[in-house]
Amino acid sequence: MSSSASLLRSLSKPSNLRLLLPTSSSAFYSLSAPSRKVLLSARPAIPSSPLTTIPSQTRRMSSAAFLEAVKGRRSHYALSKDLSISSDRVQDIVKEALREVPSSFNSQSNRVVVLFGAEHDKFWDLVSETLKAIVPADSWEATAGRLAGFKAGAGSVLFFEDQTVVESFQSKFAIYADRFPGWATQSDAILQYTIWTALEAEGLGANLQHYNPLVDEKVAETWKVPATWKLNAQLVFGGRAGEAGPKEYLALEERYKVYGA
Ligand SMILES: Cc1cc2nc3c(=O)[nH]c(=O)nc-3n(C[C@H](O)[C@H](O)[C@H](O)COP(=O)(O)O)c2cc1C
Repeated sequence: MSSSASLLRSLSKPSNLRLLLPTSSSAFYSLSAPSRKVLLSARPAIPSSPLTTIPSQTRRMSSAAFLEAVKGRRSHYALSKDLSISSDRVQDIVKEALREVPSSFNSQSNRVVVLFGAEHDKFWDLVSETLKAIVPADSWEATAGRLAGFKAGAGSVLFFEDQTVVESFQSKFAIYADRFPGWATQSDAILQYTIWTALEAEGLGANLQHYNPLVDEKVAETWKVPATWKLNAQLVFGGRAGEAGPKEYLALEERYKVYGA
């Protein structure tokens, strides 16, 4: 089992580069540089967490260790409320990932709400009430069983995209207006994956769910989430109470090409 700290460390950049854009030669990054700088300087940097104060020369890990964490992540559905790490550690992982994952134009549209204990239970009760009203009676038992499995976990990470950020970038960079919603979702997916992989690297189990948009209004009301935050996904986590199921793989030959190696 590899620790998530080395995984997250590999995502960290030196703090003096925090506000600089990558020097990519991509066409879109070469557009309107002055406007980009104004936008970025207007955004306060998120303060460093203890994980990012590691000297830069130690911020190296082999790709083998990183890929070990990638391989170690699975969908674990049998979860318990016993966390082998503290809730503070879970939060550090979530905050570090939130700070470091990339976003188009460094727009930082990702938003997160973490629910532990009774608040996590409340979320799954709320999903249950919402679904009970619409699921046919003869399939309710199966649905209820599935939801009980999620509630049996220790916590949930709710992932959102802030639409005010997406819209502001659409108006500032009109040429890419139709691309920003997709880019925001891609950035959020990277965040979901990073947190999922990091929690599993700590020995926890997790699985990814999508009860949005059915529960969006109740979530916003219950946890005072701004109306502009669009819910994308829910990552349930907890202690591992069972193994992940078998997984089939398509042949890589069907999915991969290389030229010039
Ligand atoms: C974009 C995305 C959406 C997913 N949505 C769900 C979901 O709504 N419910 C669920 O149980 N699993 C969901 N999964 C998990 C996949 O079913 C799972 O990752 C896949 O079967 C491979 O298994 P593994 O996670 O164990 O590697 C989702 C995964 C991805 C990447």
